[in-house]
Amino acid sequence: MKLAVVGSGHVGLVAGACFAELGHEVILVDNDPARVTALQRGEAPIHEQFLPELLERHRHTRLSFTGDLAAAVQASRVIFIAVGTPPAEDGAADLSYVESVARGIAGSIHSYKVVVEKSTVPVYTSNWIRTIMLRNGAPPELFDVASNPEFLREGSAVADFLFPDRIVIGADTVRCATVLRDCYLPLAGGSYYLCPGAIPTPDQAQVPPPLIETTAKSSELIKHASNAFLAMKISYINAVASICESVGANVEQVVRGIGSDSRIGPRFLRPGIGYGGSCFPKDLTAFRAVARESGCDFRLLDEVIRINEEQRQRFLGKVRKALWILKGKRLAVLGLAFKGGTDDVRESPALAIVQALLREGCEIAAYDPAAASRAAEIITDQRLTFAKSAYGAAEQADALLILTDWEEFAELDLSRLHTALRYPIVIDGRNLYDPEKMAENGLVYLSMGRPDAIPEKRTDLNLKAA
Ligand code: UGA
Repeated sequence: MKLAVVGSGHVGLVAGACFAELGHEVILVDNDPARVTALQRGEAPIHEQFLPELLERHRHTRLSFTGDLAAAVQASRVIFIAVGTPPAEDGAADLSYVESVARGIAGSIHSYKVVVEKSTVPVYTSNWIRTIMLRNGAPPELFDVASNPEFLREGSAVADFLFPDRIVIGADTVRCATVLRDCYLPLAGGSYYLCPGAIPTPDQAQVPPPLIETTAKSSELIKHASNAFLAMKISYINAVASICESVGANVEQVVRGIGSDSRIGPRFLRPGIGYGGSCFPKDLTAFRAVARESGCDFRLLDEVIRINEEQRQRFLGKVRKALWILKGKRLAVLGLAFKGGTDDVRESPALAIVQALLREGCEIAAYDPAAASRAAEIITDQRLTFAKSAYGAAEQADALLILTDWEEFAELDLSRLHTALRYPIVIDGRNLYDPEKMAENGLVYLSMGRPDAIPEKRTDLNLKAA
């Protein structure tokens, strides 16, 4: 099938490359000429596993890039809108890019098209897209508007697209649903998984995935409600972790106990310094705004957001507990990205903590395998320097802080770390280590929701004063 994907950001680029992988002819449209040229040259502008391979595989055949929206619309049966929906000042989603694309599409329709929202949008958006297109001259019988949300996680977006837990199609007419079903036939029908060149099946994947058909409105709600629920799980376990700390329990044991209930499940119950990224923070406030507009005061979401913000303060409290005075301290920071496996620092809780520590007068040597240059664009304070390795950052530091769950941070050589640090103190915002093992290696270890670990016979390192 001939498809256009408008917007070559994270969702658009991954969806475009994956649709080409499924055998469709895809035109990716972007209004940034530099980005289009870079993509035509074969550059992958985001850090995403398997994406470079897919771009290389399809770039000269089924996948092309252009700035010409009208031509792409005319050449395609289905047009996916995957442009940004950033937060406006009041927390609601800013839909001006979506509106401008809808206007652009309207003028170029001469045969039946399905216009699909892929961006995360509030529940009334498909109606508005339809209205805007009609106002701009699109013949009503020549198009339908549908919703088909993505559930991609950064870092594993390609695998998430090709091995999804489910595919959601929100269509209000039979012909529109039929077209969208065809787009996903290689996945829902299972033929993709038999292809010799298919990307490796992830561990927990269920193939073929179920295809869920709903109305456009239900589908729009599914996306917001899913992200809000996942964020709620994280804030829930972070609140439980705080109680664990107060009473001397261990949140990991609690998670094992509650997560093994199949009604709850163990995923997204990792306590830490709170969720970040380009999706959860923005989608929570947008969903809250949607609820308010529809007359529902969804105060549960306020609480999810409040707990999340508090988590950073709780972490800073641990740094104070271990070091007393922060001013003038030299700290090693491992991780700047909002989570491991990505170079994305948008709404990164790690960056927020680094900024707070700089405000307190700390000097910071940070190491991140991918996100250092993006962080340097945001924080220009001279007291933040970037190291080339975890051990380089740790050199003569008063304490080491783990802020992002990169796999390599969970595999450090502990004796080398101990030698590099000025004081053997590790404060782990991601619970990457076993506290007992850290104490055995002579390290004071503070983590989230678990008892502090202090090496034996190191009275100088105890935290009793706090
Ligand atoms: C999230 C959703 O997981 C995707 O399903 C969704 O498609 C995407 O948003 C989106 O709306 O586009 P993503 O933002 O890439 O994906 O990242 P996640 O892996 O969900 O992590 C979000 C944040 O929560 C990170 O800061 C992560 O460190 C944190 N987190 C996650 C925890 O603190 N604990 C957990 O147990 C899981």
